[in-house]
Amino acid sequence: MAGGAQIRTVVFPVAGLGTRFLPATKASPKEMLPVVDKPLIQYAVEEAVAAGATNLVFITGRTKRAIEDHFDTAYELEHELEEKGKHALLELVRATVPKGVNCIYIRQGEPLGLGHAVHCARPVIGREPIGVILADDLIDGEREPVLSQMAAVHGESGGCSVLGVERVPRDETDRYGVVSGEPVADGITEVTGIVEKPAPEQAPSNLAVVGRYILTPAIFDLLAETAPDHRGEIQLTDAIAALLQMERVVAYEFNGVRYDCGNKLGYLQATVAYGMRHPELGEPFKAYLRGVAGAGH
Ligand code: G1P
Repeated sequence: MAGGAQIRTVVFPVAGLGTRFLPATKASPKEMLPVVDKPLIQYAVEEAVAAGATNLVFITGRTKRAIEDHFDTAYELEHELEEKGKHALLELVRATVPKGVNCIYIRQGEPLGLGHAVHCARPVIGREPIGVILADDLIDGEREPVLSQMAAVHGESGGCSVLGVERVPRDETDRYGVVSGEPVADGITEVTGIVEKPAPEQAPSNLAVVGRYILTPAIFDLLAETAPDHRGEIQLTDAIAALLQMERVVAYEFNGVRYDCGNKLGYLQATVAYGMRHPELGEPFKAYLRGVAGAGH
């Protein structure tokens, strides 16, 4: 971590239905979709652990039990691998949750929105800043994982809330929380406003929040007071809009490439990018892609 404050607790809202991936997500969580050989949620967990998190809070729902199993000990599998002397695989399986990391699961009984999901974590959270990671947004942090970059910004900005943002095409603002504000340093914007999914002609900018947040504990009182929107959902964005009336909030344009794995094209792009640099598959996969491109498919 580059001189940043440590983020001890990270919340993973994973109760969403994943309707864009039906039928794959009919009975299994969209967060368990693999990019090459690792489920999306494991990339998210690794990012949290790299930023110093030791408490991982999953806000789950029905059909999400595979996530709990994934981060649990797999006795039979470990026994088998040990018997067969498959030590590398055994290590891989055991490393799914590093030692000293607690996984906490809370059910979000009703689909009342991202803000409601984060609020469900409140009983297990103390008076400390939390990270929130949306596993759908897979971000290849290149030099440093994104949550670690944000923890550094949080530390350097007096412990304020930090939103991970990137510039999106104007005609896509209605898919994101969009911020307005003043640039104060390279890649850092002092946030003065945030709106959920504005139409392109109403968007205050094209700086969109993409699934990474560091939030001060004040967010919880505000979430408790946030009214549901027209769809009956409590939006995290609305609580952040209230937060910035009371406290400093900055937006940080991270270094890295984001893949929107909440939609099929983004998911395929992630698969290609991670496949091309996979230690075993990278070279044969690139050769295959060159062949496909050459054949003009
Ligand atoms: C959620 C948030 C939105 C944010 C987006 C990032 O929307 O409500 O503010 O920009 O995640 O991926 P969702 O994608 O769940 O509709």
